Amino acid sequence: MLNSRLKALPDYPFPRMRALLGEISPGDPDGLNMSVGEPQHAIPDFVADILDRERATYHKYPPVAGTPDWQQAVAGWLERRFEIASGTIGADHLVPLSGSREGLFAIGMVTIDRRKNGQMPAVLMPNPFYQPYAGAAIAAGAEPVYVNAEAKDGFLPDYEALPKELLERTALCFICSPANPQGSLASLDYLKKAILLARKYDFVLVGDECYSEIYDSEVPAGILQACVELAKEGKGDADNPFHNVVCFNSLSKRSNLAGLRSAFMAGDPVIAAECRRLRNYGGSPLPLPVYAASAAAWRDEEHVIENRALYRRKFDLAEKYLSGRFGFIRPPGGFCLWLDVGDGEEATKALWREAGIKVLPGAYLAREGQNGVNPGVPYIRLVLVHGEELLEPTLAKIATIL
Ligand SMILES: Cc1ncc(COP(=O)(O)O)c(C=O)c1O
Repeated sequence: MLNSRLKALPDYPFPRMRALLGEISPGDPDGLNMSVGEPQHAIPDFVADILDRERATYHKYPPVAGTPDWQQAVAGWLERRFEIASGTIGADHLVPLSGSREGLFAIGMVTIDRRKNGQMPAVLMPNPFYQPYAGAAIAAGAEPVYVNAEAKDGFLPDYEALPKELLERTALCFICSPANPQGSLASLDYLKKAILLARKYDFVLVGDECYSEIYDSEVPAGILQACVELAKEGKGDADNPFHNVVCFNSLSKRSNLAGLRSAFMAGDPVIAAECRRLRNYGGSPLPLPVYAASAAAWRDEEHVIENRALYRRKFDLAEKYLSGRFGFIRPPGGFCLWLDVGDGEEATKALWREAGIKVLPGAYLAREGQNGVNPGVPYIRLVLVHGEELLEPTLAKIATIL
């Protein structure tokens, strides 16, 4: 009765964490939940105003491809942010998404055929990774291949080192930069090499960039930016600089609007057209007031600059309490801490038992890699989404308990 392929997907990390904590009562009922990457900073005021102003349009079925206003806002943002010539990105390159998670899942359906070069298709992803990548692979009948991204690798997967036979049957590959959970940044050079690899072996390369606006000192490069640079160097198709490549971005982290469910995919117009075609069958377009509010959010940078400053202050606090311990690295991007505590499950239980602090065991965000080892086992992931007033005492407790 049920699709047996889906049995290969373990339960999602959050129910697994709740099961782990099971009967243990929290040391403090008011402890902090540092497991869910849901920003607690204020939403931009203008977003609520626009949603209210546009409320009469909720009766309308909204367009799958987005409104012209939304398309112009997103294209303009991508071009400004990633130094792409104005007019390069248009409606053909864009797909609106109700949050990037659903798009990252559905991209498997769009890009994975039954066979790749006569073999079982493979989907490459970093390990640890954002869990929907595995969902995309498994639901589409492909083999997920978990490519370790450990401290010794600069927390980035080395796709170029994979065997030719595997690359030949690769249909889809994910890069997450800034990475969840480690916060590592893929350089422009890394991205360019990955793009050339994708084109050589004809697979689709996804850049998951939903943390691109939360960074410390180095501005994260974008995968579409790398495509344009390659085109300038004469490497690639001048008519379609984004050949084989798409990026995903979202207002969830950039603008503290996780509940608005507003994101997009952008890139190769051939892939984007197929995504939009499929979304007519099974996608959920954004309501018209959400398109309007989202367009305004993509056009405004002031709230994003403030947001970034808040995160920097919180990483200062994390550094104060955790520097020099648990392999602490001040991540160049994102809002997670990835701490090597020896045994992530034991540390998760201890923090809950002693202080009611919820974190995620790193093992739940990773799988056994090709070497048979789950690289997440020694780690916990903490997200710095709360205000400094809640965060500082909690970080102090974490340092003591661990
Ligand atoms: C790496 C990564 N990509 C994508 C998403 C999805 O975000 P949303 O669906 O809110 O756009 C998340 C959310 O936590 C994430 O961590």
